[in-house]
Order: sequence, then C-alpha cells, then structure tokens
Amino acid sequence: MDRVPGLNPNVPASSRIWDYLLGGKDNYDTDREAVHRMLTIAPDTKMLADLSHQFLCRTVESVAKTGIRQFIDLGAGIPTFPDVGDLARKIEPSARVAYVDNDPIVHAHCDALLADRPGATALLADIRCPHDVIDQIKTSSTIDFGEPVAVLMTGVLGYVTRDEQPEAIIRAFREVMAPGSYLVITHATDDSNEDLRHQMIADTENTPAQPEVPPKWWTGGYAAEVAARSDRS
Ligand SMILES: C[S@@+](CC[C@H](N)C(=O)[O-])C[C@H]1O[C@@H](n2cnc3c(N)ncnc32)[C@H](O)[C@@H]1O
Repeated sequence: MDRVPGLNPNVPASSRIWDYLLGGKDNYDTDREAVHRMLTIAPDTKMLADLSHQFLCRTVESVAKTGIRQFIDLGAGIPTFPDVGDLARKIEPSARVAYVDNDPIVHAHCDALLADRPGATALLADIRCPHDVIDQIKTSSTIDFGEPVAVLMTGVLGYVTRDEQPEAIIRAFREVMAPGSYLVITHATDDSNEDLRHQMIADTENTPAQPEVPPKWWTGGYAAEVAARSDRS
C-alpha cells in the first residue's frame, strides 16, 4: 500500500503538521515549515485546527453523555490533551477507546500514553483496509461490537483518494456498528481556500501527508454522495 507514513524526519507527516497546528511539540522542522507556509496564505488555519479539536471534544462528551462507553478513533493523531479517552472517561470512567492510526510515530505516542490506562488500545493500522482494522480491534478485545460504539473519523478521510473508495470504508464500519451507535465525520470540502489547497499539495507532494488533489478533491456534493453510498445494504 502506498502513501504510508514512515519515520523520515525530512518528509512531512499529517499527524505532526496537525500536532504543530494544535500547539504540540512532537513535530520536525519540515512539518513546521509547511505549516508556516500554510499560515502565510491562510492565517486562520490554526484557528480551524483549534475549532476542529473543540468540535471533537464537545462531540465525545455529548456522545458519552448518551451512555456510549466505547469509542474507535480512526486517524487518532498524536494525542492532544484532552484526548478522546480523557473526555470519555470524565463522563464514564469505564469507557474504552481504540486509537487507530497508520503513522508509527502516532502509534508510539498512543502506546506510551496508554501504559497506565485500562480499557484502551493503540493500533497501527490503515483505514484503507477497513476489514483488517476491524479484525485488529476485535482481536484486541477493547471494543464489543455487540454494544453501541462511537466511530470517529475526524480529519482523516481527506487522506483517502476516491480510487480508495472512502464510502466503502464508512460502509465497512457501519456494517459492524450495533443499533444506537454514532458515526462522527469531519471533512474539508472544495469550499476550502483554493490557494491554501495548492500550497498544501505542493508542500506534501508524493508523501502520505498529501491530501486528495484536484480535480478529484471532495466537493460538498461528493461528500453528500459518499454519505449516501455508504449506507448499509
Ligand atoms: C489531520 S490529523 C487528525 C487527527 C484527529 N483525528 C483529530 O481530529 O484531531 C489526520 C490523522 O490521520 C492519520 N491518517 C491519515 N491517513 C490514514 C490512514 N489511511 N489510516 C489511518 N490513519 C490515517 C494521520 O496519520 C493523522 O494522524
């Protein structure tokens, strides 16, 4: 499978770019330089990252308050306090979380974070192989698919090209989610700043951090189409 993040500090990674935007310290010069070029064109990108994290926090709290006790965080990213587990366990101390990411650096950070957390697991897995991810989650015994679960896909589907069929990924998860489950998706659309998009693509060309490129960029219409096509059969 191509576009898989490695450990090369000279190649930007979406996890580390995101970490820097959120004020984290787990990033390299190459990531910081890419962010500074982005901020020159679109200074509100940092605010967007903060708002996106706030949305994730509010959503996890709201969902936990409905009684959901298990969460699957797909494309979890480098942990930012508060992370999904911090928020969910505040509402429900027995909450369980599977943190999934295909970046080995994210996996190492999540693993370290989870050392003293029962009911949580970090999986190095690629959502473009959703059935493998589901099998790994089942093997970890962290999530009981017989019970409702919240599946979080925030800021991750943009790294899945149309050819890789994002709707099939969504559908694979919907098929194993028990009634009463929640699916949370956030995603950029072509309403996003055009210049910023071009800058991001130039900065991350041929790396795993490269988002889907025009003309195949997810338009608002395509996002709706994906949602419709991901319906369970
Ligand atoms: C922009 S960050 C979003 C982090 C977090 N979900 C949030 O909303 O704050 C995108 C994350 O998705 C991960 N990612 C990208 N493509 C992936 C894939 N195919 N499978 C698993 N994780 C992926 C990246 O490594 C990165 O950590």
